[in-house]
Amino acid sequence: MTEIKIRNVSKIFGGNWKSALAMTQQGADKGEILAKTGCSVGLDNVSLDIAGGRIFVIMGLSGSGKSTLVRHINRLIEPTSGEILVDGSNVLDLKPKDLRDFRNRRVSMVFQNFGLMPHRTVLQNVVYGQRVRGLTKDDAKPIGMKWIETVGLAGYENKLPHQLSGGMKQRVGLARALAADTDVILMDEAFSALDPLIRADMQDQLLQLEKNLHKTIVFITHDLDEALRIGAQIAILKDGKLVQVGTPSEILNSPANDYVARFVQRRAGAGESQHA
Ligand SMILES: Nc1ncnc2c1ncn2[C@@H]1O[C@H](COP(=O)(O)OP(=O)(O)OP(=O)(O)O)[C@@H](O)[C@H]1O
Ligand SMILES: [Mg+2]
Repeated sequence: MTEIKIRNVSKIFGGNWKSALAMTQQGADKGEILAKTGCSVGLDNVSLDIAGGRIFVIMGLSGSGKSTLVRHINRLIEPTSGEILVDGSNVLDLKPKDLRDFRNRRVSMVFQNFGLMPHRTVLQNVVYGQRVRGLTKDDAKPIGMKWIETVGLAGYENKLPHQLSGGMKQRVGLARALAADTDVILMDEAFSALDPLIRADMQDQLLQLEKNLHKTIVFITHDLDEALRIGAQIAILKDGKLVQVGTPSEILNSPANDYVARFVQRRAGAGESQHA
């Protein structure tokens, strides 16, 4: 079970980051910093403990910093300040070869924009992680086919990504991350393009992975019902800042402020927590 610790991570996008960082430390808000420095505040002093073997959900409005946060965990983004510890080691210390290894073996990711390799078939995309690790084509195929079937794409294994719909591409990205069989899976809006039935199935699959294989899953969603159903813990971001982190019932019953309360009020009422 892999634990992740985010320690005082700030990320400023833009050349004038020193002034912008200083402004965040003086309590200036994101809009003011953008107006004065031209920099976007991606994250502002975020600290989080992500327990091993559970599903950890990140929520927040568009632009609140969800993708930026999750991309720090596999170092697709480097922080302006702060550190990220995965099982106690600082990912910023990884040398290029160790970083490649870390991404192949420890952490897989489902990208918000799918991130498929356009000239490879569905099956080749799905088994990519296993092949990089040295598995032969024949040995990788049954693993790939199992996940292609799980996400409902049996029969499409030899198609190329451009021959698929958006939701199908999303499922290929999902199958690829699950086939890689890493301890940590980062899922950036991984279910957003799925229809409700497949979405519910995939939520169940994730809960199974959590229960049986003790994967650490960091899951971004806009959907509060989904967050409440699958999250052991939920973190809520606003303008790059962490506004609350808690269990589904803590979020529902004691929202930290009006922003969280507004999320909770719009809740349709379905989707009971699986972490009672
Ligand atoms: N590469 C970049 N260059 C400049 N600014 C960026 C970059 N990536 C993100 N940002 C800024 O950082 C902030 C957070 O963006 P991020 O993509 O993390 O939001 P998000 O919560 O994932 O939103 P969405 O729900 O729309 O995917 C935004 O203000 C955005 O403009
Ligand atoms: Mg995003």
